[in-house]
Amino acid sequence: MTPIQECILNKRIDKTPIWLMRQAGRYLPEFRKIRRLNPDFVNLCLNENKSSRITLQPLERFDLDAAIIFSDILMVPYGLGQNLIFKKKIGPQLEDINFEKLKRIKKKEFLEKLNPVYKIVKKVKKNSIVKNKDVIGFVGAPWTLLVYMINKTSPKNKILNNFFKNKMLIDQLLSILEKFLKIHIENQVKNGASIIQIFDSWAGLLKEKDLEKYVYLPTSNLVKFVKSLDVPVVCFPRNIKNYKKFCDEVNPDVINIDYNVNITNISEKIHIPIQGGLNPNILLSNKDDLKKEALKYLNTFKNHPYIFNLGHGVMPKTNPKMIDYLVNIVKDFK
Ligand code: CP3
Repeated sequence: MTPIQECILNKRIDKTPIWLMRQAGRYLPEFRKIRRLNPDFVNLCLNENKSSRITLQPLERFDLDAAIIFSDILMVPYGLGQNLIFKKKIGPQLEDINFEKLKRIKKKEFLEKLNPVYKIVKKVKKNSIVKNKDVIGFVGAPWTLLVYMINKTSPKNKILNNFFKNKMLIDQLLSILEKFLKIHIENQVKNGASIIQIFDSWAGLLKEKDLEKYVYLPTSNLVKFVKSLDVPVVCFPRNIKNYKKFCDEVNPDVINIDYNVNITNISEKIHIPIQGGLNPNILLSNKDDLKKEALKYLNTFKNHPYIFNLGHGVMPKTNPKMIDYLVNIVKDFK
């Protein structure tokens, strides 16, 4: 069994496994080199050879316990026919939804568009470097994808008042998303993904009263589906106020916490394996501060099944040497 599966399924606590969100990305010069020659990010995500190579780049440098497929949560809107581009400094920009077209999209068309993603999973899985490591597949949660599909770009710190104006559209989109996210998950698992992570990056934008409809219900449907495939599921409802309530309502196998979560006594409230938390900004400081912060997480969770990770993705300005230093701290911790 892989170190991460030992942690999740056997609640093993003597060795803390580690992987990092955005472990493949702009902080790596070898990624930037490929990226410079491939200005179209969606095309890059559909390029089997390049994307599988990018997925493995961090594992060639660091002793990480998992590879996360190089792709994006917005490949699902793309598969549903909503085209998008990624602009430097601005991020993703989606075109207007053509709802009539989107409603008619067939499973076959969706799979044809996203087939390269599944081939990437398969290719990564076959590489000997991931032997005894996990291959992590992922999706965006329905709520976060709804935000991007309607807002068409990253929201700042809130969603516009008129976001919920068209209730019919929202309800239908949620149900279309549920159907196609299951298809996307199933095909990643079929091709070798051994864990699925559900990213709900904008869960923190919702009011308490709206969580049931937009987060708990749709996410728990996906969680049940992943479990039916016999693969562990990690949820990351970023910036949500009450992680315990989320765990009670949604029942994931693992919960990823953000860096605002107060971890003192968290083990008394949350009884499932926990992942993440470290503020990625610490990786921009110095080794001493990094060590201090990393040890805080390691010591707090020394009696709780814990997968070391960050509270959000690695920042582009991170020095790869700091990642190496962090991985070694975790691996040497006893
Ligand atoms: O290494 C990995 O973690 C795997 C690959 C991965 C990417 N995006 C690659 C990527 C994963 C798991 C994601 C998830 C993702 N994508 C999320 C959820 C996690 C989070 O960050 O909250 C979200 C919200 C997106 C949408 C997205 N993609 C945004 C907002 C941006 C622009 C911001 C940014 O960091 O540039 C992206 C682009 C993106 N996705 C990049 C990478 C490596 C940078 C692209 C570039 O090179 O310009």
